[in-house]
Amino acid sequence: MDQDALKKQVAEAALRYVRDDEIIGVGTGSTANHFIDGLATMKGRIRGAVASSDATAARLESHGIKVFSLNDVDQLPLYVDGADEVNKYREMIKGGGGALTREKIVAAVARQFICIVDGSKQVKRLGAFPLPVEVIPMARSYVARKLVALGGRPEYRKDFVTDNGNVILDVHGLNIMNPIQLEEQLNNLVGVVTNGLFAKRPADIVLVGDKKGVQEY
Ligand code: A5P
Repeated sequence: MDQDALKKQVAEAALRYVRDDEIIGVGTGSTANHFIDGLATMKGRIRGAVASSDATAARLESHGIKVFSLNDVDQLPLYVDGADEVNKYREMIKGGGGALTREKIVAAVARQFICIVDGSKQVKRLGAFPLPVEVIPMARSYVARKLVALGGRPEYRKDFVTDNGNVILDVHGLNIMNPIQLEEQLNNLVGVVTNGLFAKRPADIVLVGDKKGVQEY
């Protein structure tokens, strides 16, 4: 099975958590896209979805799934999304696709967050994948200097603007011993909108697709 087939397999496994008449939070990326395609087969049963990016909203709508604004929804029972790295504590690095801020907002609202990944995303320690940090454009150089002081090597993601009109610094070389502490420390830098560490709000369930099938923890 190639990596995309593993993503599809795990995305389809998440469909069994979807309940009738609910509004589902939907993530961003190639694994989440498989989930959206699967959700389309259930569209008469769900009320609709809240999207974590413009791309996800467009894909949901292309399947005829109604997209709600998060502000029009008073509760969200489930959020399903991929990740770039996940550890055994269900903490993650996300934002490889640049949608980290909206993903973190939807995850914060959702009662249950299910992370769907293929086996290559499982790590002992977070940080081999460069940590995305969304920054207000005028603060880019200032925040980059602060990230260097913290031991990172920030790289400006060129020709990329987030759905919120901001830029991304991908931070290489961070030694992430304490993900919760680093998440808070980065959030406290003036000009930072969000960082891609999902440790204060980890996933509730991780589904991992590999050659043997789908494992859950
Ligand atoms: C999007 O911003 C990310 O957080 C994605 O969830 C993450 O990059 C996983 O993407 P794939 O499912 O495409 O690997």
